[in-house]
Amino acid sequence: MGLCLPSRVMTNEDWAAHVETSDEWIRARTGIRERRLAAEDESTADLAVAAARHALDDAGLDPKDLDEIIVATDTPEVYTPDTASFVQFRLGAREIPSYDLGGSGCAGFVLALDIARVRAIMGGTRRILVVGVELIMRLLDWTDRRTAVLFGDAAGAMIIGPGAEQGRILAATAGTDGSQGDILKLEVGGTRSPVTIERVRTGAHQHLTMEGRAVFREAVRRMTAAAETVLAEAGLAVEDLALVVPHQANARIIEAVRHALGLPAERVFSNVARLGNTGSASIPVALWEARDQGRLQSGDLVLLTAFGAGFHWSAMLLRW
Ligand code: ACO
Repeated sequence: MGLCLPSRVMTNEDWAAHVETSDEWIRARTGIRERRLAAEDESTADLAVAAARHALDDAGLDPKDLDEIIVATDTPEVYTPDTASFVQFRLGAREIPSYDLGGSGCAGFVLALDIARVRAIMGGTRRILVVGVELIMRLLDWTDRRTAVLFGDAAGAMIIGPGAEQGRILAATAGTDGSQGDILKLEVGGTRSPVTIERVRTGAHQHLTMEGRAVFREAVRRMTAAAETVLAEAGLAVEDLALVVPHQANARIIEAVRHALGLPAERVFSNVARLGNTGSASIPVALWEARDQGRLQSGDLVLLTAFGAGFHWSAMLLRW
């Protein structure tokens, strides 16, 4: 596993210099105190490559050992080609399949990990690098206090493959309810509403719209249900879980999922206070930090659960 956190920290007080908000409001509603902000000369591929190199070092592997690369991101390096092409080239990997999973927001990483699992085993591909990366701060509307204060930049990476003596993916699930697509969306930039000078003038190309309460409600419902689904699939129960690593959108969402599952606080990991919502980077970064803090022991049952714009959800059960 690997991660890359930009060194610049942006606190709630820093936000209060841009929009009418306060540390108190942001902390009470979201649990977030600060987030990271990529430097002006950093881009999505920079963070993705740094996290990937970190993961290769962690695994004792060379880039040439990789057989496939998947990058989950909603904030790609450029529109075309995909970020995975930059990562493949800059890592010095072989001419392996490399592709992005985009648009599924924060649920993307766990879905990418599941695709990697199936391709690693069924497709005979041995080692797959999965990166979750978001440079969302650069594409946000910095005048919109309703959305801007929630997010942060980061990248996380994992390399998976069969044959490990310990560590196994036991079950995974994912789903989509496209009827909820309107509750979280950025409409401008596609074929329906291309970027025009007029739209750029009004900032519409950066305007992420969100029905906060509807997103909150759906997130809790879907993350909880996805967690229950993977547990049932594996024939295991909530009591068997050593740690749940949920998508880090908001401390109140995490808390509501914890309550719904009936888990004690010490069995749910959260770093949202320090990093905010880092989209598809959130789960791999949280998992890395959980291991770093000694909260993952060999043999532990670990559950990942996520939701994202779409509306998409995904969950996975791991034997650490
Ligand atoms: N600072 C101060 N006031 C604010 C801010 C802010 N940053 N943002 C909104 N407000 C104001 C609003 O303007 C509103 O004022 P009004 O009543 O005068 O209009 C008031 O606070 C209440 O706004 P609500 O939107 O009703 O506040 P709510 O209690 O619902 O909290 C929040 C908003 C934190 C966004 C909440 O709805 C939430 O957590 N939703 C889920 C968001 C989320 O996790 N999104 C995921 C993003 S992407 C992903 O992970 C897939």
